[in-house]
Amino acid sequence: MPDRFEILHKDLAGRIGRLSTLHGTIETPALMPVVNPHLPLIPPDELEKMGADMVITNSYIIHQDPDLRIQAIERGLHDLLGFSGPIMTDSGAFQLSVYGDIDVSPLEILNFQFAIKSDIAVPLDIPTPPDVTRERAESELQITEERLVQAASLERSGLLACPIQGSTYTDLREKAARFARDLPFDVYPVGGVVPLMEAYRYRDLVDVVTSAKKGLGSGRPVHLFGAGHPMIFALAAAMGCDLFDSAAYALFARQDRYLTVHGTGKLEEMSYLPCCCPVCQEHTLKELMDSPEKTKLLARHNLYVSLQEMKQVKESIREGSLWDLLETRCRSHPRMLDGLKRLGAQSQWLESLDSAGKSTFFYLSPESASRPEVMRCARRIDRISLQGNVLITDDSQADTSGFAHVLHFKPPFGPYPPELSETYPFNAEVPEKADDAAINQAAINTEFMMRANPDARFCIRLKIGDLIK
Ligand code: GUN
Ligand code: ZN
Repeated sequence: MPDRFEILHKDLAGRIGRLSTLHGTIETPALMPVVNPHLPLIPPDELEKMGADMVITNSYIIHQDPDLRIQAIERGLHDLLGFSGPIMTDSGAFQLSVYGDIDVSPLEILNFQFAIKSDIAVPLDIPTPPDVTRERAESELQITEERLVQAASLERSGLLACPIQGSTYTDLREKAARFARDLPFDVYPVGGVVPLMEAYRYRDLVDVVTSAKKGLGSGRPVHLFGAGHPMIFALAAAMGCDLFDSAAYALFARQDRYLTVHGTGKLEEMSYLPCCCPVCQEHTLKELMDSPEKTKLLARHNLYVSLQEMKQVKESIREGSLWDLLETRCRSHPRMLDGLKRLGAQSQWLESLDSAGKSTFFYLSPESASRPEVMRCARRIDRISLQGNVLITDDSQADTSGFAHVLHFKPPFGPYPPELSETYPFNAEVPEKADDAAINQAAINTEFMMRANPDARFCIRLKIGDLIK
């Protein structure tokens, strides 16, 4: 099978890639607006004009409507929806998780997706919710895997997705992903995570997604099922998610909710429309509230901010500054910060994927002290071999006579050879006054260095008063 996914640029575990489908090649990370085939809030041709390169719809809803079903088979999905780019179809598994049962067999709904010329078809997986018993998670995963094996054996022309389940058991997620990577699929959605996102359980989300990613390896395109709020895009992309689907733009609009990258506002509690999209340019808040088209207009705004954030994520990846964006975005909600800390704790994994060429390291908040680059210093500092008298100083004017080695000192890195001071990451832009997290990490790194060189004699001369004042 030709390589359908090509990675162009990387930052953290995130990447900019190109995914090829029957209806064109799209650049990832990409947001697929969900199109309701019965009543699209924004017609699909308009979605295309707004900048959506790809959409997703639900094949089960089409299949259950006799009229839509016939039209989809006769005209094909693209003509039916009026969208010329790639269309992914979901299988009705989500309806299964909400209603407990659906009216179609796994093989039937998959063949239907092939028949209507879906660009990415999804087999009928079982979205196991978080926190179920291990027995349930295992037995449902087994059923999903049996269906996946069957799906992989079918003749097809489009791409095929391989949902990864396993509830909140990280070992099951990793095992499911390892199983999946050996099968001939094209896209790997991480499923069963909507309840985690709805409950702001970003820490658990990070555990689940990173486990799946570790099992899959870095070369496969990953879709995060149900991740449609722009607040989450940077974090999810940093973990290596490439595709996102948004029903949120429409669902939130129906509840008079206004999306921003920082969270969700309620229209009736707002005073302004803090955005430059065409909707917010052309309407005051009052005009929007009084408009008979309110829901449609709000859906447009919600989608504009979502598409814009995806572009911001891409720009940050390209620039090598995704961590900076994460630090900003994860300040939108305390639980997001928990998620970022959890991701920071995976520094060894991140570092193994992270590209070397980066923009300047900006120390922006205590979370910067747990960036992969800092952790890398901590792990490697014992490789520096020192003998005799060693001076560690942050004072470029310090008297260095009598020292066999002179090391510079900069929180959060701690000591480092001065010849590296103009190279990444030691050329970091740091605040004049280091915070506790930076000083702690620098102290830890200093201790590692001293322990690794028991025969050297260390003299530490720091303007530490200046550092912490
Ligand atoms: N939509 C949201 N979550 C899921 C999931 O786990 N599986 C499928 N097929 N669709 C979803
Ligand atoms: Zn707007």
